[in-house]
Amino acid sequence: MIRPRRNRRSPAIRSLVRETQLSPSDFILPMFFHEDDEDTPIASMPGVTRWSIPSLVREAGKAHALGIPAVVLFPKIDEALKSPEADECANDEGLVPRAIRALKAAHPSLCVITDVALDPYNSDGHDGLVRRDARGELVILNDETIDVLRQQAVCHARAGADLVAPSDMMDGRVSSIREALDDEDFSEVGIMSYTAKYASALYGPFRGALDSAPKEGDKKTYQMDPANAREAVRETLLDEAEGADILMVKPAGLYLDVIARVRETTTLPVAAYQVSGEYLMIQSACAAGWLDHRSVVLESLTAIKRAGASMILTYFAAQAAAWLREE
Ligand code: PBG
Repeated sequence: MIRPRRNRRSPAIRSLVRETQLSPSDFILPMFFHEDDEDTPIASMPGVTRWSIPSLVREAGKAHALGIPAVVLFPKIDEALKSPEADECANDEGLVPRAIRALKAAHPSLCVITDVALDPYNSDGHDGLVRRDARGELVILNDETIDVLRQQAVCHARAGADLVAPSDMMDGRVSSIREALDDEDFSEVGIMSYTAKYASALYGPFRGALDSAPKEGDKKTYQMDPANAREAVRETLLDEAEGADILMVKPAGLYLDVIARVRETTTLPVAAYQVSGEYLMIQSACAAGWLDHRSVVLESLTAIKRAGASMILTYFAAQAAAWLREE
């Protein structure tokens, strides 16, 4: 008789037939930081801290020592530095370039990834520049935004970023950023594109962490409709043609079908972002004692990898890496 259970009989056999193996080298740790000297627990994301630059460097080093190859940086910019033009985003002496230099000096082998989008710098809280049209409605200025994103990406490259990660969802930004990087002699700096980034309700805790929520309106004219999967294929083909090096799907856990579609569509590496709301759903259920922390975290990450992601941006990176090293 054919008995699939034979392959599940013992831990040894299960480990031989296991199709998906999670490893610390799959993880990218998103890190928050600010100008202050104090480290601040983030109220909207229990267990996550917004670091000073020295603490950021220390904590990134600890994560790297656990086998995590990369971090992605999210700054909280002082309110006084925000403007409608978001010009602080390309200041070589700004918070992000200083953090990149400090990280690369302390940990040369750590891959430093930066977020390219205007929301932390824009007084309107949108990823792009905005204008009010004749009817008084907010309009996101796609091509004008790209001019600023190019400067932001080059500024990060100049400071030493290994990869820039445009999360803004403007049309045409990947090819334009590629061109700007090449023109400035940064042809080795890669682009991890947020290819299929959905207008998700799961980003709320992140925006709380950075005070970066839009002041008016929502992001639905640039981030994708959660109802659409074929459109992710379209975005994949575009980002690949525009020269992206790695394609990302975001969020991850509720979009496993999209990860699988993108995986089938491209030969490029695929990343997935387990976002703040996913983190929070798991954290809160575990804090209440309703779910087992270790099993549910590792299961959620395994599922994302099984769907087709080669790498996962996750706030659980350090914890999960520590657990995997115990196994
Ligand atoms: C900013 C950006 C966001 C996230 C990553 N980069 C927020 C947004 O698009 O509103 C969300 C990450 C998370 O929720 O963990 N462009």
